[in-house]
Amino acid sequence: QKRISVPQIRAMKGATPIVSLTAYTAPTAALLDDHVDLLLVGDSLGMVLYGMETTVGVTLDMMIAHGQAVMRGSQRACVIVDMPFGSYQESKETAFRNAARVMQDVGCAGVKMEGGEELAETIAFLTARGIPVLGHIGLMPQSVNTAGGFRAFGRAEDEAAQILRDANAVAAAGAFAMVIEGTIEPLARKVTETVPIPTIGIGASPACDGQILVTEDVVGLFAAFKPKFVRRYAELGNGLAAATRSYADDVRARRFPALEHCFGVKAPGSTAS
Ligand code: KIV
Ligand code: NA
Repeated sequence: QKRISVPQIRAMKGATPIVSLTAYTAPTAALLDDHVDLLLVGDSLGMVLYGMETTVGVTLDMMIAHGQAVMRGSQRACVIVDMPFGSYQESKETAFRNAARVMQDVGCAGVKMEGGEELAETIAFLTARGIPVLGHIGLMPQSVNTAGGFRAFGRAEDEAAQILRDANAVAAAGAFAMVIEGTIEPLARKVTETVPIPTIGIGASPACDGQILVTEDVVGLFAAFKPKFVRRYAELGNGLAAATRSYADDVRARRFPALEHCFGVKAPGSTAS
C-alpha cells in the first residue's frame, strides 16, 4: 500500500480539506492512519508525553525515535517529523544535515520547521536538495522565550503584516504547505487566500485549507491545559483513570488475576494452559 505523498497534500489546496493530527507512537499512529491525510510527529511530544514545560528541551534523537515508531505503526498517511529547537536555526547547512538524518533514519515524507522570512533561505536550501519542508508560522512554540508566552497572533497591524510576509516568504522558498498556529481569523483567511500552497490551521479558523490538532487534546488524554481552539471528541483520560481504579480494586480484593489468567491451573471450560 502506498502512502499519501507530499505532492498529493500540496494538490489538496482548493479541492478538499487536509485532515491532520499528531502521532508520537506506533499504536496511536495505527489507530489514526485510516482516517487522516497527514500524521505529524510534533515536538509537542515534549510537553504531552514527557511533561516538559515547553518544546525547547526536545532533542533530535527523541524526534527520530518517535518518528520511527509512527512509521512502523502507519501505512497510509503522509508522515512529517518536526525539527526540534536548535537543530535547524543556526545555518542552512546544519539544517540540511539534521533534516537529512531524520529523512534517512525515519523514512518520513518530509520535515516541519518553525519560522518565517528569516527561515526562507533554509527552506529553499533543503527543498532544492530533496527534503520537503512543511512551514510553520504565526504562533511558534519554540520561540516562546522571545515571543513572551502563548497568545493569539495578528491582532496588532505590524504583527499581522509580518505574518503575511512570513507566509509569502515560506511559500516562495518552496515549502509544500504551512502550519499556521494561533492566528486571528481574518489574517489566517488572508494568508490562505494569498499563498499558493495549503495552510493547515491550529487555532487559526476554518478559513485554512486544512486542520491539525494534538491528538491527546482531541481525545482528552492531555489534561494539563485545554486551549480555546481544541474540540474534545472523547474523554479517554477519564476511561483510563476508571480502568486503573477498577484494576487496583480487583488486585486489592484478590479478584484479579482469576483462574482463567493463570498458567498451570485447570480452569473450568479452558482448553489451553
Ligand atoms: O508540535 C506539534 O504538535 C505541532 C502542531 C500542533 C502543529 O507543531
Ligand atoms: Na511543533
